[in-house]
Amino acid sequence: MKERKKMLSGIKPTGLLHIGNYFGMMKQSVELQSEYESTFFIPDYHALTTLHDPKLLKSFVREVILGYLSVGLDPKKVLLFRQSDVPEHTELAWIFNCITTVSYLSRGHAYKDAEAKGEEVSVGTFDYPMLMAADILLYDTDVVPVGQDQKQHVEFARDTAEKFNRLFGETFKLPEERIMKEVATVPGLDGRKMSKSYNNYIPLFASREVIVEKVMAIVTDSKGGRPENVFAIHRLLRDAQVLEPLYDAHVGNYKALKEALVEDLDAFIAPMREKREKLEKEYDVDALLREGGERARAIASTKMRDVRAKVGVR
Ligand code: TYM
Repeated sequence: MKERKKMLSGIKPTGLLHIGNYFGMMKQSVELQSEYESTFFIPDYHALTTLHDPKLLKSFVREVILGYLSVGLDPKKVLLFRQSDVPEHTELAWIFNCITTVSYLSRGHAYKDAEAKGEEVSVGTFDYPMLMAADILLYDTDVVPVGQDQKQHVEFARDTAEKFNRLFGETFKLPEERIMKEVATVPGLDGRKMSKSYNNYIPLFASREVIVEKVMAIVTDSKGGRPENVFAIHRLLRDAQVLEPLYDAHVGNYKALKEALVEDLDAFIAPMREKREKLEKEYDVDALLREGGERARAIASTKMRDVRAKVGVR
């Protein structure tokens, strides 16, 4: 049998999952899980760059794992694990630090944004792309399904693989990002990118009450035409051919359009929400993480043996 290509991606456990995560990354991952040899993990060391609350961090790890399962990733087909169960990630990140320059990392969007806002940037935030490169390269990844905001990070991983290979000989595959054009940047309630940090998101497992509250909070202008921010979210759920006549029939009637969006969102979310509720009661998340961590560690430690020998440590 022909060997399948490898796919890997992750979601940072720093908050509730939202529909931006779903359309940008999770949907394509579920659709491709059988075509590729697939790995999805929870980058909890990455979360530590901004989250300094151990209880919350642990609860968001659960949120992501239950999320993966509730949208349809099948643990019999895909490898699921938590980053901190595989210390080879941080070990490899250190080696990458030693072949990467400060000026190269200074080009990172996330770092530049934080700097521009005058924030105090931690070394971990600055170095974030090297840990992410380690996540990707340890598993010989071919494709990384992500939203547009992660494109540069995957490019950094590719550059780092090339640099290492040049210095120490052929070791790492060069990964490619996989971005779905129509949902590359899912907009939030205010029209900016939907994001945990902007607090402009619709939770992926929102109750009907929360859906109503979020939809009513979508920012609309007062010009009386088509409410673009409502339409942009509605477009995720229905074809433009269906929506255009609906929006034409209700020009200026934002309330009716928002009510239609509530119905469509609730119909879309309800089955996943119910699955999540069931899994939360019944699923042994700890056992899944334990088993996934062991499998991931076996792969990563084999790769690291080669890397250590190449650079000349141990
Ligand atoms: P994170 O946790 O911010 O987001 C998880 C995934 O969701 C996508 N996404 C979106 N896509 C479209 N529109 C949006 N509004 C939107 N918001 C989020 C993101 O692009 C991402 O694919 N650095 C990563 C986590 C990570 C990782 C990795 C990913 C760590 N190591 C290795 C892939 C491979 C992050 O913070 O994603």
